[in-house]
Amino acid sequence: MHVSGPVPARITDELQRAFLLLNDHRGADGVLSLITTTIDESYLEEAGPQLKVLANYGVGVNNIDLEAAKRRGVLVANTPDVLTSTTAELAISLMLALLRRVAEGDRLLRRREPWQFSLEFMLGESLDGKVLGIIGGGRIGRETARLAEAFGAKPIYVGRGDSLTHLLRQADIVSLHCPFTDDTHHLINEATLAQMQPTAILVNTARGPIVDETALVKALRAGAIAGAALDVFEFEPAVTDELLSMDNVVLTPHLGSATRTTREAMGMLAVSAIRSVLIDGQPPPNTVA
Ligand code: DGY
Repeated sequence: MHVSGPVPARITDELQRAFLLLNDHRGADGVLSLITTTIDESYLEEAGPQLKVLANYGVGVNNIDLEAAKRRGVLVANTPDVLTSTTAELAISLMLALLRRVAEGDRLLRRREPWQFSLEFMLGESLDGKVLGIIGGGRIGRETARLAEAFGAKPIYVGRGDSLTHLLRQADIVSLHCPFTDDTHHLINEATLAQMQPTAILVNTARGPIVDETALVKALRAGAIAGAALDVFEFEPAVTDELLSMDNVVLTPHLGSATRTTREAMGMLAVSAIRSVLIDGQPPPNTVA
């Protein structure tokens, strides 16, 4: 049996024992795919009719054409749960970094600018008491809310019957945790940004294209919102130039699930999905479609 994909060190032996590893997807029975690989009709055609399982090394599966996989009888699995707290932690880190001006202060020192402790110097905002608007009430959104509550924040969700507008108007922090689909493409755009409070901040640890980056830059420039903390980007890995020059913006390079423990757990989960389909002939619990 042949499997293709990027394989983390800890699971290489297990994979080697179970499968013959290929360098590319052509002729593979299973593929361990990265979220940066677009898996569409032509990729599946190239892979060949023997392909039975795609295990995506990530919880988001927007890089995969699920309908095309279904048409070809290819099972798709992802890596939920094991990255929930890691990603929520990063969302909280970004909120705190922006509110308490951590990255900005770090940049100031690195520029060797003169400074001195004083009562009005670089005052920020506390997470305590803030209304945290969670868009996407799944596992990561709920865990972010739970952690934020420990800091004294008050989470709100887009509940049944409540509109997104209600959340955007109330929230001091809007944090994105929804999947990227046709429906959520540019969910945060000129109109929705205009509904946020001028003192509010936007945090995105979900997927870049949920935010219209051009509209975001415009809103930040105009002071329509107070700041943004972004781990993902509309044109990833490119980052819109203007964002790099703004002090009220904190940026990280898609680090949501980036801890060694989590990446190993994701790898194990993806491999167990491949094993389950190819060896046990069973759909794994982390089947997406
Ligand atoms: C995911 O899992 O979807 C993250 O964005 C990558 O780890």
